[in-house]
Amino acid sequence: MRLPGLSLSGLRGMGSRSVTRAAGAAQSAPEQDLQTAAPAAPGRPLVEVTGLAKSFGKLGVFDEVSLAVGPGELVVVTGSSGSGKTTLLRLLHGQLRPTRGSIWVAGRSLHRLWRRGLGRVRRDVGFIFQDFRLLPRLTALENIILALQISDPQLPYSVIRRRALEVLEALSLGHRGRAYPAQLSAGEQQRVAVARALAGHPQILLADEPVTAIDAQNAHIVVRLLEEAAANGAAVIVASHHNTYRSHRELRLPEGKILPGHRGRKAGVSAQPVRPRLWRRLLALCANSFRLVVLSGLRSWRRDLRLIAPALGSMALLFLLCGLLSLVGVAVADVGARAADQASVVRVYLAPDAAPADVAALKARLAADPRVESIREVSAEQALREANGRPGLGALASLSTSNPFPASLDVRARRLTDVGTIAALAKGDPAADPSYPTSYDPDAYSRLQRMGLIVGGIGAGLLLLFLFVAYSVVANSMRAIATARREEVLVTRLLGARGWMLRGPFVVQGLATGAFAGALAAAVVAGGWFLADRFAAATYSQVLPGAGPVAIRFVVAGLLTAGLVLGALTALLGFRRLRA
Ligand SMILES: Nc1ncnc2c1ncn2[C@@H]1O[C@H](COP(=O)(O)OP(=O)(O)O)[C@@H](O)[C@H]1O
Ligand SMILES: [Mg+2]
Repeated sequence: MRLPGLSLSGLRGMGSRSVTRAAGAAQSAPEQDLQTAAPAAPGRPLVEVTGLAKSFGKLGVFDEVSLAVGPGELVVVTGSSGSGKTTLLRLLHGQLRPTRGSIWVAGRSLHRLWRRGLGRVRRDVGFIFQDFRLLPRLTALENIILALQISDPQLPYSVIRRRALEVLEALSLGHRGRAYPAQLSAGEQQRVAVARALAGHPQILLADEPVTAIDAQNAHIVVRLLEEAAANGAAVIVASHHNTYRSHRELRLPEGKILPGHRGRKAGVSAQPVRPRLWRRLLALCANSFRLVVLSGLRSWRRDLRLIAPALGSMALLFLLCGLLSLVGVAVADVGARAADQASVVRVYLAPDAAPADVAALKARLAADPRVESIREVSAEQALREANGRPGLGALASLSTSNPFPASLDVRARRLTDVGTIAALAKGDPAADPSYPTSYDPDAYSRLQRMGLIVGGIGAGLLLLFLFVAYSVVANSMRAIATARREEVLVTRLLGARGWMLRGPFVVQGLATGAFAGALAAAVVAGGWFLADRFAAATYSQVLPGAGPVAIRFVVAGLLTAGLVLGALTALLGFRRLRA
């Protein structure tokens, strides 16, 4: 039978995994420190298992399994259903921890570094899951592209895409690339899963019953592709009921007996791929990171908008409340400042018969006091004029034919608390009116203080209450998002994703939510101010004095910043829930 487009050797273009391994070693030095072992030396097995035992509680699956698979070898793991084939492959992939024994994969000891540095190992391993594990919200092509981006983000996107298309074509799925997993038959899904594992040319391939759902003709293609991967130098381990492969060895489970394989081909020497230039790799890394983090985060955000909506709404309301409260705060501060300004003046009434020399002496004495900021002389006529300007006092003034207002010195204190002392200084002076020497507001300070405390307390209380409500709403919807994406994150982690690839899209999602909520609140505040200023400027300046365009600009900027910060924080919070 002729199988058109079967060979994948043609895909071995620039930058396969083995190429970037050298670059990756330098770049991921901290991660490398976690590895307990030397690099895989040539001739050394890529997979080595000794005395491996695994049991789930009391159920022992297998005991004393030993196996070594070198580059270019294909080993088939056989056994009846429930004999532990999947369990063995999962152990080799770091999904399970061995009960006993040691596991070395690509020169790294899995039994010791379980969990830590697993991503590094998994990027070297292609895994074909028995239950496919495709990401349901990505198309067939996107599933393969994602795996390639994860395993080698320094590969240019154009190369990644071409490879993904070629491998789909090789599995006669070229026409189904745009279909979502749910739109594919089980056989087609399994072929996509095979394509995903093969596309990156991993040095180790683990295939868990890779042809169970596939028709005979396509199963033949898959078998040939796996054999070819081994022929090109990969270590291939296939779990299967029967050994229908040209294998080098067969491992029978659960006994762990090793049988000779049949017709195993000698491994060919694979061509060393060309290593792309550094700038190309860096550029590709940036582009792939952008796709993996920003684009995928925004895409998830749009897709999960229904789940995000409650968080978005409560964040926007919280921000709106903060914005309004800060405007009220500005207005209160403005009123307070004006009241303090008025209250810091001590009016020293001059005696009607005061000699100009005495007045000058009193003025000089007060001006010399460090607590006094300035002194203004007010003549009787001026006082009358000023009184006429005020509604109540003007009527009072008109009752009398003579001027009832005495001349005075308006002494401005530097600090509001000093008005009493300054008044005492003037009292008893020959120039001051003996019966009614001064007029000032002695309680202004404590009154202002009390007002500030009450207004601040009410504001803080409201804010805290709303913060609490908003926190629970946001946390709830983050949990919903995390739950919705649990499977996705799990699979991405199984593909060997680095931490930032997992966390990044979440942060982008949070940032988008926060920014949107902040912008919404800012728009309401700015729009409200614009309308008020346009149509009810007089009322507005009375209700919120001092909250002018400058204050509005600060509030808008503050809301946008708060949106971004809170968004990122809630995203990280959601991610932590996911890990737990
Ligand atoms: N996570 C698990 N918890 C408990 N038992 C498990 C778990 N995974 C597998 N098993 C049990 O281990 C045995 C081997 O399973 P598995 O490796 O899936 O078999 P196979 O792939 O050969 O059909 C089965 O009896 C199965 O029920
Ligand atoms: Mg199985």
